[in-house]
Amino acid sequence: MPTIGLGVYLINNADECRRSVAAALRSGYRLIDTAVIYGNERAVGDALAASDVPRADVFITTKIWLHDYPYERARASIDASLERLGTDHVDLMLLHQPGPQALEAWRAMEEAVDEGRIKAIGVSNFEPEDLEPILDGARIRPTVNQIEMHPYYQRPDLVAHLRRHGIVVESWAPLGHRNKKLLAEPLLADLAAKHDCSVHQVLLRWHLQSGFVAIPKSTNPAHIASNIDVYGFELTDGDMAAIAGLDKGRPNFRIPKWVLKHLLPRVRPRQFA
Ligand SMILES: NC(=O)c1ccc[n+]([C@@H]2O[C@H](COP(=O)([O-])OP(=O)(O)OC[C@H]3O[C@@H](n4cnc5c(N)ncnc54)[C@H](OP(=O)(O)O)[C@@H]3O)[C@@H](O)[C@H]2O)c1
Repeated sequence: MPTIGLGVYLINNADECRRSVAAALRSGYRLIDTAVIYGNERAVGDALAASDVPRADVFITTKIWLHDYPYERARASIDASLERLGTDHVDLMLLHQPGPQALEAWRAMEEAVDEGRIKAIGVSNFEPEDLEPILDGARIRPTVNQIEMHPYYQRPDLVAHLRRHGIVVESWAPLGHRNKKLLAEPLLADLAAKHDCSVHQVLLRWHLQSGFVAIPKSTNPAHIASNIDVYGFELTDGDMAAIAGLDKGRPNFRIPKWVLKHLLPRVRPRQFA
């Protein structure tokens, strides 16, 4: 699995999504992170088809939405994702959120793995208590948990728990989703000056050196290029320890439990492109 990918959340315009994916592939990205609920799987598939990068070289991740967790709907959701992405398999499929019927969707994903239509399966936004039924009842274990992760929300306990279970941490909102305070942290500016790079590159380097996979979103070709240009320098142990001190233990986004349980499962994914 590549360690930096392009996230396409909130890229709701099909042309813009195609252009962003194309720019990412040209800049050397080989991981694209989409989801049924983003509504842009077709645009991602079109951009992949139009590119001269072979399908086998690209790691495609998509996610099943809560509404589709009942077994039959999960099967249909997997079929529809493959059709929209224009591929016979995805490299990683995630359950987008914990939900009461998560195990049903998990079984559908396990079958798709057996059929060669999904290479690996995982979860997103799962806390240890959400993971438990999957770890207990699953035939195929989760490989990845995609979670909000940035220096203001470092989640050491969850990370340690995931590591104990051999689950890779994939960071969403790796740049803090435009959190102005985070981006203006003097420490990050100092580290950017020290390493002759941008604050965004310091952040992405922190993810890499923490052992996380990061999927920054951008529609700006210059940002897209610079976000993957992070393999030529290294933060020191001291830099990493200083960034550890920024943790506020607070997410940018917190979905109340009742919204997750009662409201989100009723939201039907809408396709923009
Ligand atoms: N599993 C989940 O529940 C979940 C939830 C949220 C997100 N995600 C995934 O994680 C991905 C990333 O998260 P995110 O989109 O919330 O936040 P993010 O990647 O932390 O931040 C994206 C913002 O940063 C800006 N940006 C990116 N690179 C930049 C650069 N080099 N210089 C200046 N600004 C830059 C982007 O604007 P420009 O476009 O102008 O560059 C955009 O506004 C999503 O696209 C999605 O794939 C998953």
